[in-house]
Amino acid sequence: MAFLSLIFVACLGVQSVVAHYHFNYLMINGTFHPKWRYVRVPQDQEQYLPYPLYDLASLDYRCGRNATVTGPGTDIATIVAGEVVGVRPSLTNNRPGTTFFHDGPLFAYLSKSPTQTREGLQNWDGDGNYFKIAQRGPDTDNGWFTNTYKYNLTTDSWNFTIPSTTPPGLYLLRAESIYPKAEFNRTQFYASCAQVQILGPGGGTEPGPTVKFPGAFDNFHEGVLITQELATGKKGLDNYKFPGPTVWTG
Ligand SMILES: *[C@@H]1O[C@H](CO)[C@@H](O)[C@H](O)[C@H]1NC(C)=O
Ligand SMILES: *[C@@H]1O[C@H](CO)[C@@H](O)[C@H](O)[C@H]1NC(C)=O
Ligand SMILES: *[C@@H]1O[C@H](CO)[C@@H](O)[C@H](O)[C@H]1NC(C)=O
Ligand SMILES: *[C@@H]1O[C@H](CO)[C@@H](O)[C@H](O)[C@H]1NC(C)=O
Ligand SMILES: *[C@@H]1O[C@H](CO)[C@@H](O)[C@H](O)[C@H]1NC(C)=O
Repeated sequence: MAFLSLIFVACLGVQSVVAHYHFNYLMINGTFHPKWRYVRVPQDQEQYLPYPLYDLASLDYRCGRNATVTGPGTDIATIVAGEVVGVRPSLTNNRPGTTFFHDGPLFAYLSKSPTQTREGLQNWDGDGNYFKIAQRGPDTDNGWFTNTYKYNLTTDSWNFTIPSTTPPGLYLLRAESIYPKAEFNRTQFYASCAQVQILGPGGGTEPGPTVKFPGAFDNFHEGVLITQELATGKKGLDNYKFPGPTVWTG
């Protein structure tokens, strides 16, 4: 408990500057799996506080720093379409989880590997078409979902459903957190990619609309460069405009 309190205080102290994380834990079938087991490891995985990414044109924006090439060392998780999966961030590589901290939206995307073999997915750089399967923004006009669970180490995760008609296959599952600012180019981006094999009957509409990473949107998007009012988080969050495509539901 003293340890937790210490983390809590330490995190409070640095929150506005460097409360950063990777989504290194994946929750499947109700269980959080060991860090990095299914998530591609970025170059800064060992860093105590990974430096935020600001540049939407960077290749690192796709899956984290240099994580387009770390697929071969990463396992592939089997998920049944229609099931709930979750992501949990970690402040450091050594600590089991932290909270999201930043007031802002969360997103989940899927992109199908062009080569439908395990090695094909693992060796793929992720330069494909991504469709959005879930997003979570403000829960109320003055509170983000991420804010609700701020500092709560019991519920330090975001769970969402893989649409039940997702075409079966091998995919990158990309989780993203955005910390939007009212200052140009100061919005922070955090993304990680898990390797997954989705089982199921398919049968839905063609997944879309799709986007590329980098390239999905720019720093002028009103959900990236937000108003001062929204940045205070005290009201007006009902008007928040999510960046990226609409959610594909099946
Ligand atoms: C915004 O960030 C990009 C990428 O880091 C940089 O190239 C550009 O010069 C920045 N623009 C301004 C106005 O700061
Ligand atoms: C990471 O990528 C950058 C270019 O994006 C490259 O200069 C650097 O060598 C890479 N580092 C590693 C460890 O792969
Ligand atoms: C989740 O459950 C399904 C169905 O039982 C199973 O095929 C799959 O391997 C499980 N995935 C993980 C990562 O445990
Ligand atoms: C954390 O969330 C759980 C589940 O919603 C709740 O029961 C618990 O009271 C929360 N803890 C804190 C410290 O807010
Ligand atoms: C996500 O699901 C896991 C496993 O059921 C649970 O432990 C966790 O509290 C859930 N997260 C939230 C925010 O509800």
